Amino acid sequence: MTDKITVPAITKMKQRGEKITCLTAYDYSFARILDAAGVDILLVGDSLGCVVQGQGNTLPVTLDEMIYHTKAVVRGRTRALVVGDMPFLSFQVSKEQAVRNAGRFLQDAGAEAVKLEGGVAMRKTIAAITRAGIPLMGHVGLTPQSVHRFGGYKIQGKDKERRKTIVNDALAVEEAGGFAIVLEGIPAELAQEITERLTIPTIGIGAGANCDGQVLVIHDMLGLFDDFTPKFVKRYADLKAIMTGAVESFIKEVREQKFPDEEHSFR
Ligand code: KIV
Repeated sequence: MTDKITVPAITKMKQRGEKITCLTAYDYSFARILDAAGVDILLVGDSLGCVVQGQGNTLPVTLDEMIYHTKAVVRGRTRALVVGDMPFLSFQVSKEQAVRNAGRFLQDAGAEAVKLEGGVAMRKTIAAITRAGIPLMGHVGLTPQSVHRFGGYKIQGKDKERRKTIVNDALAVEEAGGFAIVLEGIPAELAQEITERLTIPTIGIGAGANCDGQVLVIHDMLGLFDDFTPKFVKRYADLKAIMTGAVESFIKEVREQKFPDEEHSFR
């Protein structure tokens, strides 16, 4: 478990049939805990717009904010691969700007790869970024930066036409040089078909059990964020309840003059 996870190591995991684990992280302390627990990929997701910044969606997140959080995560990890998420409008305007912005994640923040949303429409951009030597993870299906086009966070790929589009998007990411791809919010059979057709690993979120790996937003799986909870989220802990209990105890002890006691004071 001590070997550093690299991009080729992720490729080999699919070849060996080993499941890949990925969780989001946005700061140093969380990155240290997740890394020490043995997660393979730390994704600095633009989901931080919702769970850290309290925005209604990911669209307001800026590149500078992503770089700031990625730097903190990089400082906290020793083993996991760190992937920085390219925020809205940091890669759509031109290929040249996309390469420069992707490069900032590696050059300024110390990440080892970037992720961006889109398939066929982003083929040339993905090719330009990977040609520049920047490992890239794709993201297709329910791509949150397209929330307004979709009219909400709706499962994608339910009809035949849209299924075909999503398969073509996934193939485009692989052909353009992506090393892995997130499949979000699509039926399990569609994710399985894509996983079987691609040689690069698929990382699912709301895409069933047959992907090569799974990703969750850390605040969701630890029960820290409950503004909305998608069906695919499994709560592995209820940290909100634990935190609330701890804070209530602190308030009570200060009010009752039980804290600080001898043990926590200096003579
Ligand atoms: O922003 C994010 O956290 C993501 C994952 C949910 C895949 O894109």
